[in-house]
Amino acid sequence: MQIKNICCIGAGYVGGPTMAVIALKCPHISVIVVDSNPDKIKAWNGPLDSLPVYEPGLAEVVGEARGRNLFFSDDIPGNIEKAEMIFMAVNTPTKTEGEGAGMAADLRYIKACAKDIAKYSKSNKIIVEKSTLPVRTAEKIKEILEENSSKIHFEILSNPEFLAEGTAIQDLFKSDRILIGGDETESGQNAVQALVDIYTNWIPKEKILTTNVWSSELAKLASNAMLAQRISSINSLSVLCEKTGANIDELSKAIGMDHRIGPHFLKASVGFGGSCFQKDILNLVYLCKYYGLDEVAEYWHQVVKINDYQKNRFAEKITDNFDGDLNGKQIAILGWAFKANTNDSRESAAIYVAEKLFDEGATLKIYDPMVTKTSILNDVQFYWKEIPDSIEVQNRIHIEMSLEDACEKVDAIAILTGWEAFKTKNFNYDRFQSKIFDGRGIIKEAINIYTLGK
Ligand code: NAD
Ligand code: UGA
Repeated sequence: MQIKNICCIGAGYVGGPTMAVIALKCPHISVIVVDSNPDKIKAWNGPLDSLPVYEPGLAEVVGEARGRNLFFSDDIPGNIEKAEMIFMAVNTPTKTEGEGAGMAADLRYIKACAKDIAKYSKSNKIIVEKSTLPVRTAEKIKEILEENSSKIHFEILSNPEFLAEGTAIQDLFKSDRILIGGDETESGQNAVQALVDIYTNWIPKEKILTTNVWSSELAKLASNAMLAQRISSINSLSVLCEKTGANIDELSKAIGMDHRIGPHFLKASVGFGGSCFQKDILNLVYLCKYYGLDEVAEYWHQVVKINDYQKNRFAEKITDNFDGDLNGKQIAILGWAFKANTNDSRESAAIYVAEKLFDEGATLKIYDPMVTKTSILNDVQFYWKEIPDSIEVQNRIHIEMSLEDACEKVDAIAILTGWEAFKTKNFNYDRFQSKIFDGRGIIKEAINIYTLGK
């Protein structure tokens, strides 16, 4: 079966870039991305320098394919009906209420998609899970589809996304692997082949791995858990380095030179952030508990606990450096995004460190080159345990428009995102005479998290 019409539900950090690349590489396929948020669709159809997702290279890809075979639309029913293949790329955050709250994945958006698909489909379709989902979710999706639509055949595939933000376009162009899970039935294998045929337009065949649905769903959670586990492992060792005089960067280099370990994801930091690592590990922990595997659950939970410990430790080190009293102190928060080259701040370590410093009495001067003032203030409202009132915000949270403004007249500078612009080769910190705390290890001579506690 040759696919000519794709619909993707969810125009976020995954749906937007992945579909833009499919459209670019497959000019013979019409790719339409829909979303329930009309403002997002409007922005995807707007000027290339203000797309809702900032990713190096994305504007160029969208610029080439948009209007040719890439479209963004808020017509969900019409585009579901037209498509032969539908990707689900909606968010799957951690549940905040009900059974599994604080751990399990919230599948309400996936379920809503499945209901829409069942409601508006008039012909057989291949449904592709692009979102990261707990193992065996395809079973639930199938139930919803079959309950709500009797005559149509839906084939469900799992095709998790492995892109990292900030390098999404290069990751999509040259993926390490494409994973496709499908049923072992004839129709399942035909659907797998239809998706393989799309990817082979630019991905070498040997990089496309086909498995059963459950392996594919679980491999995504496990991959994120393994990556995050390496960060927590190195971060846990950073504390021991501080006590013993060992240097964490040297340690990391020495460990990573073993080809069996490799150098990636061994950079000690103020802790990982982002919308996925924490939520996916908590989801894995929940699944293990659900299946009665308490020891396995505890093993993975520790990865998140070390991450929390590292974020707290960094904030405490700053506070201790001022003898435990931040009242009247001004602190520059450099970086709000969870990593460089993205405008995404979900679960950013900066949010948690800023909260602790604010709670200790500090006045914050926050600067990020890509995260907007509105997003920063929304994050404060959404993530902080105690939401400051508008007067406190006015007096003690200043969103600055430049690096210079943020560093002007502060007692300390905390570097929380590894933006290139923050590096000493690009910015002269000397003139500010502030203490510099580098949570991203980008300024060697700073008082950084690794040497502070000695
Ligand atoms: P996102 O929040 O950026 O985008 C999700 C979009 O889906 C939103 O625009 C939302 O309005 C829309 N949506 C939600 N419910 C809808 C519905 N019923 N109908 C239409 N639109 C709906 O999320 P994201 O970062 O793109 O992540 C999506 C999924 O991909 C998650 O499961 C995530 O774990 C996974 N993932 C994310 C990344 C990443 O780097 N962000 C990488 C790999 C995998
Ligand atoms: C991560 C994975 O790398 C992707 O493969 C996956 O698809 C994605 O999650 C997802 O499922 O959402 P992402 O979170 O976008 O991608 O970015 P990473 O580069 O993995 O960084 C995550 C966090 O870890 C950042 O805060 C980063 O600063 C931190 N990090 C990364 C470290 O502290 N040390 C490192 O050595 C590497």
